[in-house]
Parts: sequence; structure tokens; C-alpha cells
Amino acid sequence: MKKLSPQLIKELFTVAARTMENSYSPYSKFKVGAALLAGSGKIYGGTNIENASYGLTNCAERTALFAAVAAGERDFEALAIVFNQKDLGPLSTPCGACRQVLAEFCRPEMVILTAAISSGKAQRIVRKKLKDYYPFPFSPQALLKKTPKKK
Ligand code: THU
Repeated sequence: MKKLSPQLIKELFTVAARTMENSYSPYSKFKVGAALLAGSGKIYGGTNIENASYGLTNCAERTALFAAVAAGERDFEALAIVFNQKDLGPLSTPCGACRQVLAEFCRPEMVILTAAISSGKAQRIVRKKLKDYYPFPFSPQALLKKTPKKK
């Protein structure tokens, strides 16, 4: 994995914050932005898109991942997520559904940076790995490998 320099981290948060401005969240008023760094070096932004049928809402993280996959990316280095809250601290985490969807494409070691954002500035960045949030994903291998032999 490429080194995540302070400059690159700043860039990720800039894209996440910028994309968060496009959040469509009239129901929750909870804006989220994400920026996914692909192996190609490109950064893909995503934001949450709610729906009047609430369960159809798409989170920022999945929006970013789907945009990247649709552009042909299959390899990811890091994800930054921002929340438009004053200070969520350790409460600023990706939801369970997004963890599972990320696990489909991203390595367990992929870095996830989260921060609440206030006055355009990321507060208290929390740095973790996908495996910290989601240590035992249901993985593609479970479906792609041969059925285990019976004992
Ligand atoms: N949301 C995200 O976009 N990402 C998360 O990780 C948590 C929740 C969105 C979904 C919904 O639009 C709003 O935040 C409140 O749940």
C-alpha cells in the first residue's frame, strides 16, 4: 500500500467534505461524505442519498464505492468519511451494511479515517482498519470456493 501522507489525507478529507455538500438527506438532516482512494491513485467521492421510502437510502460509503467500481476500479487503498456533526469522536463509524459491502472489494488492512466536520474542518480524525470494524465478514470466498468436504 502507498504511504498515506498528510497531504493525501488532507486531499481525501477535502473530497469527502466537498462531496458531503451534495448530500440528499432531507429526512435525517445528517450529512455524510466519503472519499475512496483507489489503487489507480484516483479518489472517488460519495454522499448519502435518502429516499422517501427510508430503507432505500444509500450511505455515502457505498455511493463512493459503487462509483469507483462502476469506473472500473477493483483495488482500494483508503477511505475517508466525514459527518456534519460537531464532534462525534468514536461514534463516527461506517454502518454495518457498508462494512459488509466494503469487505467485498477492500482488503482487511484498508485504512478508514473518520471525522466529524465543523466549519469545514475535520475534527479529531479517527484512524482504523476495515478489519477493526469488521473482523469476520461474509466473504466472496465463501461462495466462490468449492463446498467443504464432509468430515
Ligand atoms: N449514513 C451514511 O451515509 N453513512 C454511515 O456510515 C452512517 C449513516 C447516512 C444514512 C442516512 O442518510 C443518515 O446517514 C442517517 O442515518
